Amino acid sequence: MALDAKSRPNDLSAFWMPFTANRQFKSNPRMFVAADGMYYTTAEGRQVLDGTAGLWCCNAGHKRPRIVEAIQAQAAELDYAPAFQMGHPRAFELANRLVEIAPDGMDHVFYTNSGSEAVESALKIALAYHRARGEAGRTRLIGRERGYHGVNFGGISVGGIVNNRKHFGTLLTGVDHLPHTHIPENQWSRGMPELGAHLADDLERIIALHGAETIAAVIVEPMAGSTGVLLPPKGYLQRLRKITQDHGIVLIFDEVITGFGRVGAAFGAQRFGVTPDMITCAKGLTNGVIPMGAVLCGSHIHDAFMQGPENLIELFHGYTYSGNPIASAAGLATLETYREDDLFARALDLEPYWQEALHSLKGARHVIDIRNLGLIGAIELEPISGHPTKRAFQAFLDAYDKGVLIRTTGDIIALSPPLIIETAQIDRIVETLGEVLAALD
Ligand SMILES: Cc1ncc(COP(=O)(O)O)c(C=O)c1O
Repeated sequence: MALDAKSRPNDLSAFWMPFTANRQFKSNPRMFVAADGMYYTTAEGRQVLDGTAGLWCCNAGHKRPRIVEAIQAQAAELDYAPAFQMGHPRAFELANRLVEIAPDGMDHVFYTNSGSEAVESALKIALAYHRARGEAGRTRLIGRERGYHGVNFGGISVGGIVNNRKHFGTLLTGVDHLPHTHIPENQWSRGMPELGAHLADDLERIIALHGAETIAAVIVEPMAGSTGVLLPPKGYLQRLRKITQDHGIVLIFDEVITGFGRVGAAFGAQRFGVTPDMITCAKGLTNGVIPMGAVLCGSHIHDAFMQGPENLIELFHGYTYSGNPIASAAGLATLETYREDDLFARALDLEPYWQEALHSLKGARHVIDIRNLGLIGAIELEPISGHPTKRAFQAFLDAYDKGVLIRTTGDIIALSPPLIIETAQIDRIVETLGEVLAALD
């Protein structure tokens, strides 16, 4: 493929890349210039099989015509409308479609532009909800160790990743953390692990310590993605739901990764059979194509705000781009694409094949654990002594050289291909990983 000047920027220094080893990247750049279906095209003209749906977001694969056309048409018709005190039809249509596929009772949608903003919005809504009901003393927020809730201050405060927290001061006060659910007894789990439901009971300890009347919300990923695919033990989420309900605490599921088919249902809440009070989502909402996030709210949350004089703003929160017309059009086209291709069911159908393929890597060099659910998988490697993350990062580079995009976090390889993946492509990912691991120091 001929390379034009645009594909080869001659100076890489100005762009400070996010969550990237900038100096390593810029000394040996990995540039994508095009994408279609399951494949990226690199600047050198190589095809790379997408084992990660971009960054857990392109669930319908790349360059889907319906989405491309919807964005083009919307840009030509209504490019922007003020988000405050004005509306446009697409944002309402998308909210209605989201409510249709969301768990029963999730009847309202608050738009944001990213997962991080969805988390901040949900935490703020939880605090304001209690205040609106006369329980202003409920200000504590509970997150979980090894949780990832984006990178803004609320999210890193309730999140449980040391590197995302320790550089940034004192964070929010009044935050506690539940223990994570990744226990050694559940090694080599296929689907939801058997052991660990009792880990939810730690919430009772936190309640006993502070008093339920001081606690506003608990936020967890129903399945923690970014810290290496940590699965919810059977019964764990049910227990968390029961304890939060018993004590009037808002339960928020952060479904930025698990939303939109990744675990074989529209939302993890449906797959796991537990309905929280709010769901945060982003990524797959627009197939990753245009930034957009959302908070889905139960009616009881929303309705608590709908009081007082009707000319007054009920929630003092929102973004210039909340429900942006082009993002809304992309969201509508994305949901239609998922429906047309029946992709949520497809993820569930492929799960057994995916599971067998991944677990066939048991016994490969350095592999100390494999786990999976829906079209998500993790292969955990033994870290090189004294050099954590080095081995997995090398696996990432080697797989890329062999034409497969994987993602690594710590020494864990995380996989989350587009839901359109074919079984032969699953085989290719696993075979490539087998070769990479066999050759890895
Ligand atoms: C569970 C979860 N919450 C929040 C976020 C943050 O989303 P964003 O990067 O769009 O701000 C992510 C991103 O991976 C995520 O996995």
